[in-house]
Formats: sequence, structure tokens, C-alpha cells
Amino acid sequence: MQAIVWTKYGSPDGLQLKEVEKPVPKEDEILVRIRATTVTAGDCEMRRLQLPLMLSFPMRLYAGLIRPTRIPILGQELAGDVTAVGQHVTSFKTGDPVFGTTGFRFGAYAEYICLKASPNETQGSLAHKPATMSYEEAAAVPTAGFEALHFVRQAAVQPGQKVLVFGAGGSIGTFAVQLAHAFGAAVTAVDSAPKLAMLRSLGADQVIDYAQQDFTRNGETYDVIIDVVGKQGFARRLKSLNPNGRYFLANAGLSHLLRGRWTSMTSSKKVVISSSSQTQEDLLFLKDLIEAGKLKSVIDDRRFALAQIPEAHRYAETGRKIGNIAITVGGDGG
Ligand SMILES: NC(=O)c1ccc[n+]([C@@H]2O[C@H](COP(=O)([O-])OP(=O)(O)OC[C@H]3O[C@@H](n4cnc5c(N)ncnc54)[C@H](OP(=O)(O)O)[C@@H]3O)[C@@H](O)[C@H]2O)c1
Repeated sequence: MQAIVWTKYGSPDGLQLKEVEKPVPKEDEILVRIRATTVTAGDCEMRRLQLPLMLSFPMRLYAGLIRPTRIPILGQELAGDVTAVGQHVTSFKTGDPVFGTTGFRFGAYAEYICLKASPNETQGSLAHKPATMSYEEAAAVPTAGFEALHFVRQAAVQPGQKVLVFGAGGSIGTFAVQLAHAFGAAVTAVDSAPKLAMLRSLGADQVIDYAQQDFTRNGETYDVIIDVVGKQGFARRLKSLNPNGRYFLANAGLSHLLRGRWTSMTSSKKVVISSSSQTQEDLLFLKDLIEAGKLKSVIDDRRFALAQIPEAHRYAETGRKIGNIAITVGGDGG
């Protein structure tokens, strides 16, 4: 089968299309013919090994000190069709369309993958694909959907609360806007101008172009801030949080950790830095919302085929992508 093999840390040139052995499912696994995968900001950070300090060394130990020998193929999320099942598998059958994540094994930048039929959290998550979505749309749901759901649940968002999503037009943000809206919040979405109309269509009540307006200086305060950008200005953004408000960070560095801990200890504001777990239960929860018409994935107009994944990584790093980048596997992409 064909796969994009991860040969070195650093630039997308280290992602190379190669012929590799097609996997064979063990007795508790299914073999999936992958029809779509994604390129996320997280995939690019992993490729560069440009991760927060507390993650980069353990990840290098895990993936390989010099080269990523223990993770030959990147890619965390996928949608496809079951083409074979192990003898102990009863929950899926050949021909079933599925979607899910690969957990710490990665491996979705390929034509086929073997997945546990009942994965634990480190092995990913798996469910039947929502009937209302294409393979590309379904592949873009799990990792960012889990993260957004985690934030909205931890915030215990209530109807009428004011929620601001900072970096709303990307993978996590587009799901966070929809979920906060579905939970009844008044949502303000902050991102660049080309994404604002899309964000309104997802349910944002207010949109702010961050190049035109600094929301920390507009006099408004919020009950919940979901920040997927991180970067500078964290201390100023904290001032836009109401007393008893909660601030969630998807992309926390050491300074965010220290400042966040201090704020949580010395004021009524709480800074929460934690990540979602990838459970089948949450995947089914997202699937139900999708099939009820309350959640959709936003896919960038630029489509890519498996062989174009290095190009898709370069595009992801331009900052121009809208929502998610989908990769069509076994199709024309382009
Ligand atoms: N996706 C996941 O499942 C996941 C899970 C855990 C953690 N994370 C981490 O969370 C972070 C975000 O992930 P993501 O996948 O949502 O990234 P993404 O798709 O790249 O979205 C980030 C969004 O933030 C916007 N942005 C950049 N600078 C901004 C600014 N100063 N003000 C407002 N908006 C700004 C970007 O727009 P422009 O480019 O137009 O500026 C983009 O729309 C990454 O560091 C990732 O590693 C991701």
C-alpha cells in the first residue's frame, strides 16, 4: 500500500510517499481502507517537534531520539471502510463506514490501517461514520471535536453565558463555537477577516477581526474564554474574564502554566490547562450532535490527495486555512 512515511523531524520534505507493507488485523482489530484523513496544526507541530517544553522531550523519547523511527507514519484522524475484521470482533463488519482517531500510534497518512475494535484512550477512538457526513467531513471531527467538547463541558457552559473563542476559525475553534452555541451561550468569535462570515454561520453572535480590534480593549468581559492561540497577551486577555470566569488554553507554554496557576490561586478566576481524552463515548456524543444537525465540520476549499500531504502541511503553516484541511485518500484530491 502507499503511505506518507515520516523520515525526519523538521520540514515537510521529511514526509515521503512510499510503498509499505499492508497491515493484517489481529484477532481484536479491524482493517480500515482509509478514505480521508486530515492535516492539523498539531500534526505540523509534531512533525517539527515544536511542542510545549513539557511535551517535546517525552515525545522525542517516544518517537525516536534522532529520527521518528517509532512513529513511521503520521496522521491522527481518519474515516474509511472496514475491509476485514479479526475473529474476536463483533462490533464492526466488513463494509461498515467508520471514523475515529489512531491515538499515540498515529498512522492515518496511509491507504490502510489496523485499529482496535474497542480501543482504550491511548489507542484512539472508533465509531460508525455519521450517515450525514462525507468521509472528509467525518475525518475532521474527532481530535478537535474532543478538545472543544472537553472545554465546553469543563466550563459547564450555561444558557445566556458569554463565551469568547480566541482563534475560532481553525479546527478546535469551529467546533467550540458550535458547541457553545448549542449549549445556549452568547458566543463571540475572534479570528482573521476571511473566517468571520463562516463563524457567524456556525452560530457566533459576535465576530471580531483580531487585526482590526483587540477584544481586550473593547470594555466587554466574558464568563468563559477558550483560547486556542496562546502566544503573547495572555495576562491582558485574563482581564477580559468575569470574576468566577474560566479560561481554557489549548496551546499552553510554561509562562501560561505559571501565570495561570498564580491567577487560579489568587483570584476567583480559574485558568484550566488540560486536554481531552479520546473516548468512544465522546465520539458517539459528537456523532449524535452531527446527525441531529447541531454540529458540522468546516473543510477548507483546498483539497489534497495522499501524495500531496507535504503540500498540505505547507499550506497549514501559511495560516490561511479555514477550518480543517481534509486529505482524500484513494481519490484525486487536488
Ligand atoms: N486540533 C486538535 O485536536 C488539538 C488538540 C489539542 C491541542 N491542540 C493545540 O491547539 C492549538 C490550536 O489548534 P487548532 O487545530 O485549532 O489550530 P488551527 O486550526 O491552526 O486554528 C488556530 C486559529 O487561530 C487563529 N489565530 C492565529 N493567531 C491569532 C490571533 N492572534 N488572534 C486570533 N486568532 C488567531 C488562526 O487564524 P489565522 O491563521 O488566520 O491567524 C486559526 O484560525 C495548536 O497549538 C494545537 O497543537 C490541538
